Amino acid sequence: MIKIAPSILSADFLKLEEEIRSIETSGADLVHLDIMDGHFVPNITFGPMIVKQIRPLVKLPFDAHLMIENPTLFIQKFADAGCEMITVHAETEQHLHRTLQFIKRLGLKAGISVNPHTAVDFLPYVGDLCDLFLVMSVNPGFGGQEYIKSASEKIRKVAEIREKYGFNYEISVDGGVNAKTLPEVIKAGADIAVMGSYFFGKPLEERAELVRNAKNL
Ligand code: DX5
Ligand code: ZN
Repeated sequence: MIKIAPSILSADFLKLEEEIRSIETSGADLVHLDIMDGHFVPNITFGPMIVKQIRPLVKLPFDAHLMIENPTLFIQKFADAGCEMITVHAETEQHLHRTLQFIKRLGLKAGISVNPHTAVDFLPYVGDLCDLFLVMSVNPGFGGQEYIKSASEKIRKVAEIREKYGFNYEISVDGGVNAKTLPEVIKAGADIAVMGSYFFGKPLEERAELVRNAKNL
């Protein structure tokens, strides 16, 4: 059954407490936090201070997606702010293997993400350290974009590698996931679906049904 990770990037920040609580009451599984620095991606969002303040609002795991240069400088800060999972982009790390080791040494789940153009042939060399593989199905930086179809092939490839090497990371897909694209994403082998505009675009009272329907696919 697919897990749902709403991304608060698409939430109404004037009602952030209510929006975050709705993630939990809707039956979703994770809180996806899109951290952007304006360098790796052409947008800036929020940092450890905000994460620390929203941490007490829900019990759900915080799934931090670091779209930042030099992520190693901030891993401890996001760990201290209460994130259970920290995902870094392979494109931002000269020493991905060492960074994953560092995240795991902190007792957190270590995630790797790749942009739409990035191949995954490095995965067999770090898959044993990986708890989450985040396939970007949009160019990172913004919510509300169209699903990039080549991501489905990449999800299948990442699932094949997991099978072949006996890895046990979960496969998450991020960007343009909605009622139309979700069946394809599940069929390709995703375990988790990040949803920004699809989830927060719905009125509060329709979100539980959205999650239920997604989990029944
Ligand atoms: C994009 C982010 C995604 C985005 C998803 O850089 O990593 O998590 O917020 O938003 P939707 O679901 O609207 O594409
Ligand atoms: Zn994301």
